[in-house]
Amino acid sequence: MGEIAEGSGVVVVRPCRRDEVATILELWRNAGAPPSVTDDSAGLNRLLDRDPQCLLVAEVDGEVGGTVIAGFDGWRGHMYRLAVLPAHRRRGIARRLVVEAERRLQRVGAVRVGAVVITANPEAVGFWSAAGYRLDGTMRRFIKDF
Ligand SMILES: CC(C)(COP(=O)(O)OP(=O)(O)OC[C@H]1O[C@@H](n2cnc3c(N)ncnc32)[C@H](O)[C@@H]1OP(=O)(O)O)[C@@H](O)C(=O)NCCC(=O)NCCS
Repeated sequence: MGEIAEGSGVVVVRPCRRDEVATILELWRNAGAPPSVTDDSAGLNRLLDRDPQCLLVAEVDGEVGGTVIAGFDGWRGHMYRLAVLPAHRRRGIARRLVVEAERRLQRVGAVRVGAVVITANPEAVGFWSAAGYRLDGTMRRFIKDF
């Protein structure tokens, strides 16, 4: 996948490797992404079993600095867990991750993509608005944990 120069370093966006599961979980904690019932190695391995290409990472100078999950269930595309470590923010890494995620979703046939976004988080709302996504005010998310 693509490579871009970012400040003093080089950013490579690519699918996550199996041996990076623990690193990803730690990144989400350090990025302040609120943990949910699926945030453990069993959950991540299950995701990668189902779709090995759906979790993209941004590698910054050889270290994982950002992530996004771009899932397609045959009906719609969905993005989750967009997160960039604080030290690498405002350098276009999230934008790069989302561009690659959108390319992947279009390649596999998605015609619409949605993102699960915490609307009380101004950085998340700022990012998704800047990325060209519109808030669908007609819906709220209903969830049930098993
Ligand atoms: C939201 C987040 C992923 C953005 O990552 P990032 O790599 O810093 O974002 P980018 O540099 O690609 O930003 C692209 C554009 O988004 C907007 N944006 C990014 N961060 C923003 C912020 N804190 N406030 C307002 N707008 C913001 C800006 O328009 C920015 O362009 P600019 O820097 O030229 O002004 C990052 O802040 C993060 O990981 N936050 C914690 C986890 C989270 O909230 N994730 C989103 C949940 S879905």
